[in-house]
Formats: sequence, C-alpha cells, structure tokens
Amino acid sequence: MGWNSWNMFGWKVHEENIRSAADALVSTGLKDLGYEYVVIDDCWSIKEGRDNNGNLVPDPEKFPSGMKALTEYVHSKGLKIGIYSDAAEKTCAGYPGSYGHEERDAELWASWGFDFLKYDYCNAPWDQATAIDRYTRMGHALKKTGRDILYSLCEWGGRNPHLWGRDAGGAMWRVSPDLFDSWIDVCIQPENGPAWTAIGVDTSLDIAARVSEYGGPGGWNDLDMLVIGLKGKGQIEGAGLSPAEYRTHMSIWSIACSPLMIGCDLTAMDTDTRKILLNKECVRVNQDSLGIPGKRVLQRNSCDFWTKPLEDGSTAAAIVNRGSQSTLCKIAAGDLGLLDKKKQVYDIWAESPAGDFGEEYSCSIEAHETKFFIIR
Ligand code: GLA
Repeated sequence: MGWNSWNMFGWKVHEENIRSAADALVSTGLKDLGYEYVVIDDCWSIKEGRDNNGNLVPDPEKFPSGMKALTEYVHSKGLKIGIYSDAAEKTCAGYPGSYGHEERDAELWASWGFDFLKYDYCNAPWDQATAIDRYTRMGHALKKTGRDILYSLCEWGGRNPHLWGRDAGGAMWRVSPDLFDSWIDVCIQPENGPAWTAIGVDTSLDIAARVSEYGGPGGWNDLDMLVIGLKGKGQIEGAGLSPAEYRTHMSIWSIACSPLMIGCDLTAMDTDTRKILLNKECVRVNQDSLGIPGKRVLQRNSCDFWTKPLEDGSTAAAIVNRGSQSTLCKIAAGDLGLLDKKKQVYDIWAESPAGDFGEEYSCSIEAHETKFFIIR
C-alpha cells in the first residue's frame, strides 16, 4: 500500500511532490491504515545519460536536495520510499534504463536508502524468455545489495508474470496495461509511435478474475495504481469516474488483493476520495492475513459476484453491477458459496450493519456500483 507519483505528476515529478505526499499520508491518517510506500515513478533522472562513473543522475532541478536527503525525510515520517527504472536502455518516457547496469543501479538505490523498485518494460524485446531473464537479473542485483527492497514488476501482464514473477524475485507484478481514469478503455495514438489501448476499470474486472488464483502472500497480482480521486486531472487520460465507479474500483482492488497504490494528489483530496481510500473495512479485506485473493464466483445478468474468505471466518462479498441500468439483485447463499443460512451482513460502503442474510438477500445496485459486504 502506498502512493506513486505517476498518475498525478507524470514527467513533472519534483521532490516537493514526494515530501508533501509523505506529509499527507501521515496527516490524513492513510499511514495509520497501512499506506506506507511513497514511490517516485519515471522521469526522476537526467535524460541525457549517466555520469562519468556510469551512474544514474537525479535531475538537479527536480531533486535539488538529492536522493539521500529525500529518503531520509520519508523515513523520518515512518514511511518507505520507492524508485523506478526499466529493463531496457530507456524507460517508457525515454530516460536512461537499467539493462546492463543492474548491479550498479541497485547498489546506488540501496546506498541512497530506497526500499522499493518499480521496474518497467518499455523498449525491451517482446518475448517471455527475455523478460524472465531481464527481470531475474535485476532481482538478483537487488538481493545482492543486502537491503530489503520490494521488487515490483511492470511488464503489463503480456508475458504472464503471475507464472514466473516470484522466481524472478518479484513481490508484485502488473497484470494489465495502464489503467486510465475511465470506466471504458481509451485508445492512445502518440504523435510518433503505434497506437495502444489503456484500459478502464470495467476491463480490469475481467483481468482480475482471470489471474486471481495466482496471487498470494509474497506475490501479488497488481491491477495498477488507483485512479480514485484524480477526477480527470493529472498525467493520465480519462475524464474521471463517478463516486460509485470509484467505489467499484476500490472494492475490486481490495477483494482481489491488489496492491493499493494511490495515484491522486494527496494534498487535495475531497470528502468522497477520503471516504473511499480511508474505508477501514475495505482496507481490512485487502490486507487480511490469510492473503487469499477473492474469486469471481458467478456472473448473472449484469452482475459479477466475488467472494473472499477472511481470517476470522467471515466472507467478503462484492456484487458489481456492470450494466448501465440499476438492478434489483437477489442473492442466494449458494450464489456466494455460503453453507449455513443465518448470517449477519455488514455493508462496507454504507459503514453499517445491513440485516441478516436469510434465505435470499435482496439489494438494489446502481449502474456501475458495487455492494461490498462482509458476511459474518
Ligand atoms: C508505463 C507504466 C506506468 C508508468 C509509465 C511511466 O506506462 O506502465 O505505470 O510507470 O510507464 O512512463
């Protein structure tokens, strides 16, 4: 759990954004809930290349205090800090990457005090064998530093990292293309280069369902950084989601055990955004100690049904209405794989008890809304 600079600040990232994100994690209570890593994404170094010793150089205009001072600041808040690179000569935004420099770069990040690496895959060969090789090289280099650096793989799922990410040393791996601040997919046509499709939350739901069984303690399916609270602002495209859609986004990331990396400006969150990101039960479902990612157990009419067993014997259940009309949903215990009948329902988003489950539980679900329950 944490925050990443990309969605909001993109290539303009500056040390002030990092410091104020760290401050805000503490002052808003997000840190107390477990949001811990502050991650600097792409565009932190000088674009021209390495110094005479072959080291990456932080951009002095963006990071005038230097990386050591920044990691010390973030650590002084009781938080951890992450950095970014790419398994090729250049990152996605065209800055120097780490291919062929793995040990040197890992040592540099460790000497600065970084605790996390997001390792991207732009400009690298497309095949799976090369990806496994390049990610494993960096995995070894990070281990060799002797510092505990959480390794986050970002090749967007195309080479099935859920099958080999753990062996490469990864603790999380992206399973999907970039998520935009949108319910539906967005096609991007760069000025120079091929068109590509960024996905919306609706597509993420199917990807999450496809890979759910491969996540678990020590290795998590990463559905990408949260777009909650961006509301159309920031680096990434998309016009923004409705509050109900943002809640659906958080519900599925939570039940699927995806890392929760916030992407909005933490210093300017409105009430809706705070309520979503700071929902205790939602985070509790995500962080439950069993670490069993929820599964999509049923699709009926416009609704997807997800369940996840929790450590205290209760079950988290998310019912997502993906349709564009509201619907009255009747849920039988068997739909959720529940064996005994009398169960108490707690509504996570209403933050209140919501009656007994009984033989059949009825609820009305708005278009693109999710009812997120804990059934005890
Ligand atoms: C890729 C990644 C994003 C972000 C950008 C930075 O698109 O998937 O998460 O890191 O690169 O350029």
